Amino acid sequence: MTTKVLDSKTIDIIKSTVPVLAEHGPAITSRFYQMMFTNHPELLHIFNHVNQKQGKQQQALANTVYAAAQYIDQLETIFPAVKQIAHKHRSLGVKAEHYPIVGEHLLLAIKDVLGDAATDEIINAWGEAYGVIADVFISVEQEMYNEAATKPGGWEGFREFIITNKVKESDVITSFYLKPKDGGSLSNFQPGQYITVKAIIDREAYTHLRQYSLSDVPGEEYYRISVKREDGKGDIPAGIVSNFLHHQVSEGDTLEITAPAGDFVLQTHENRPVVLLSGGVGQTPMISMLKTLASQQPTRDVTYVHAAINSTYHAFHEEIARITSEHENLNYFVSYESPTAEDQQAKNYQKEGHIDLPWLQSILKNNKADFYFCGPVPFMKAMNQALKEWNVPDERIHFEFFGPKGSLEV
Ligand SMILES: Cc1cc2nc3c(=O)[nH]c(=O)nc-3n(C[C@H](O)[C@H](O)[C@H](O)COP(=O)(O)OP(=O)(O)OC[C@H]3O[C@@H](n4cnc5c(N)ncnc54)[C@H](O)[C@@H]3O)c2cc1C
Ligand code: HEM
Repeated sequence: MTTKVLDSKTIDIIKSTVPVLAEHGPAITSRFYQMMFTNHPELLHIFNHVNQKQGKQQQALANTVYAAAQYIDQLETIFPAVKQIAHKHRSLGVKAEHYPIVGEHLLLAIKDVLGDAATDEIINAWGEAYGVIADVFISVEQEMYNEAATKPGGWEGFREFIITNKVKESDVITSFYLKPKDGGSLSNFQPGQYITVKAIIDREAYTHLRQYSLSDVPGEEYYRISVKREDGKGDIPAGIVSNFLHHQVSEGDTLEITAPAGDFVLQTHENRPVVLLSGGVGQTPMISMLKTLASQQPTRDVTYVHAAINSTYHAFHEEIARITSEHENLNYFVSYESPTAEDQQAKNYQKEGHIDLPWLQSILKNNKADFYFCGPVPFMKAMNQALKEWNVPDERIHFEFFGPKGSLEV
């Protein structure tokens, strides 16, 4: 990929103003979103309103622009981060024509917050830098759009699917089996990838887009997603899309989804032992990986460790227990935070409380494995810390956030 070259003066201005912008980051980005959604309300069909309210998305986008600006003269260092974001953008339908809108409003917000300190020279330099960064995203995303549309069974944008089965997996998790309405074929995917669902809900002014990991293996005639119902608590409203899917969507209904995306994928070219760690509904990508390992790499050593509150929340237990019992080299362990009286009697778990390093060390031979984990943020932080403490190298630690990517520092 070739990127436009900025002159050294522009680069100097950018690098010297990154700290100033980062310092005013939250003010600039909240002003940016305010102005952008006022002038372009159609973008509210794409952005997650709840992430907006919680400020998570503001931070993610702004931090990336500043990080990219810091490396404006060596953008190749941020390519891995760009790829991950580009997967999300492609899955959501972010297009080249959206970039100038974001750029224009970012500059307006910088000017608005910094006032006279934002001279024309500074604004022009940031305009140029944004253009260079946006071009990198646009070209990576264009390649991803082409690949998704041209692969066998692939498609562009949203495609209609029929819900052929809706299956309750636990008190809080329900699976949806999806088949293309056009009767056409279905593109393959890599275990760990996700799709985006477009929820069109009565009396809602905008569509709501959410990602769901594919919870079954590639190569079936359907895609399966498994969704946790996010209940409201006190002043906190219930989750919009998960409740829509649980309560308003039935077998025979149509759902629009985009083609599989994401770079949290099982590395099948490796033959090292694999450890899959999940908390709650974070088990969805792990089941896809586990089932794929069982069928495609039957001799590989695999340990699956799942943490749930107790058996009433725990989905897929029978499915996983059956698969692991059929393969000598697949091991399965369960940890319950608060086992029920029935759980205690049935002894259907191996650990009470949370997954911790001493327990992991007692069930795993050593740390020489590829580790994959996914779950609620506190769970992810605990797993990351445990693996770091056990000296597992970064390149063997893989994880997925079920929301905007955040920090795993404790
Ligand atoms: C790559 C990826 C894969 C994913 N895979 C899965 C999967 O396989 N299964 C799955 O179930 N989920 C998955 N998710 C999460 C999923 O995309 C949704 O985020 C989830 O279903 C919640 O969406 P919602 O619309 O129901 O909740 P939202 O309406 O988006 O609300 C999110 C949460 O915030 C709470 N909330 C709402 N308003 C406020 C407020 N004002 N203040 C504080 N809290 C508030 C809600 O109660 C809810 O718990 C994945 C996410 C990603 C990014
Ligand atoms: C160079 C410009 C941009 C940068 C650096 C950027 C960066 C990011 C980052 C870091 C995330 C979070 C990814 C994650 O952790 O999952 C994200 C998500 C997202 N981006 Fe961008 N982005 C840019 C341009 C755009 C444009 C042009 C649009 C469309 C108008 C857009 C729409 C979104 C949406 C809708 C999300 C998902 C967030 C949500 O849940 O609401 N982005 N982007």
